[in-house]
Amino acid sequence: MVDLRVVSARRASQSEPARPHGGVVTEKAALRSALDQARAAGRTVGLVPTMGALHDGHAALIRRAAAECDLVAVTVFVNPLQFDRPNDLAAYPRDLDGDLAVAAAAGARLVFAPTSTEMYGVGAQARVHVAGLADRLEGAARPDHFDGVATVCTKLFGIAGPCRAYFGEKDFQQLAVVRRLVHDLDLPAEVVACPTVRADDGLALSSRNALLSPAERAAAPALHRALRLGADLLASGGRDPEVVAAAVAAAFGHEPRFRLDRVDVVDADTLAAPDERTTRIRILAAAFLGRVRLIDNLGVTL
Ligand code: PAJ
Repeated sequence: MVDLRVVSARRASQSEPARPHGGVVTEKAALRSALDQARAAGRTVGLVPTMGALHDGHAALIRRAAAECDLVAVTVFVNPLQFDRPNDLAAYPRDLDGDLAVAAAAGARLVFAPTSTEMYGVGAQARVHVAGLADRLEGAARPDHFDGVATVCTKLFGIAGPCRAYFGEKDFQQLAVVRRLVHDLDLPAEVVACPTVRADDGLALSSRNALLSPAERAAAPALHRALRLGADLLASGGRDPEVVAAAVAAAFGHEPRFRLDRVDVVDADTLAAPDERTTRIRILAAAFLGRVRLIDNLGVTL
């Protein structure tokens, strides 16, 4: 087993460059056997699936996993199955050296970074579809996206074995899809939801933020401000989801660089339109800044 803590401690003491030699496992069998060994020794396993370009949002998930589990494995895999725009896949930031350092500093013991061929082999045909949850909201506009997420997560849970698996509320629909997937297929993972980590100006941290120009980055907090406005409206008694969505959409009008893609005001549990039984509402928004598509969401308890 590769011990990232040992590797990072050695680097810190010797001021070596950022790349911890050998601090990464690239084969499925190696990850499975390392985690099997840990469980056989009575240790609990935390899994943090990511696509890399790790930032403080990911680090918060890793720190939480490290606080709650004996051994934490971070997976770094830019999953081609979940990208619907080839340019988006090509442009996705990749920085394995940086990822190893962030993962180690946050308390991860292992990083699993397979190639696409290692992950999917040749001629893979199975796909996992969470009917309903994966078809609405983001899924309606990006028909294969959540199948890609569900498929790779099912594989990761299969490879890793019994674990607690940490996901961010930043990707709220993804979290709902993964919860449903684990429940419906009896996968041996306990899903743990972690709150969204934001920059001081409110922008949700995201690997895609690195792709913004300085002017776009300066405009980006308007997304969070618009969601806040919707949340305040709900908190002060506004109950019509369409009115709230329209107010959020209008708030983007003040920031001409943004091109709003969608705003949804939904029941946080079903992701469907709120009804009289709804107690928790979620406002979700997606918007383009230049070529970068940003998503964010906020919750309100009625
Ligand atoms: P990625 O975008 O790298 O995110 C990995 C995990 O980090 C997800 O659970 C995401 O919700 C969480 N995360 C990202 N930004 C966050 C923030 N600002 N605050 C809190 N958590 C944050 O989501 C994916 O990768 C992929 O779809 C994956 C689940 C790995 C499947 O390929």
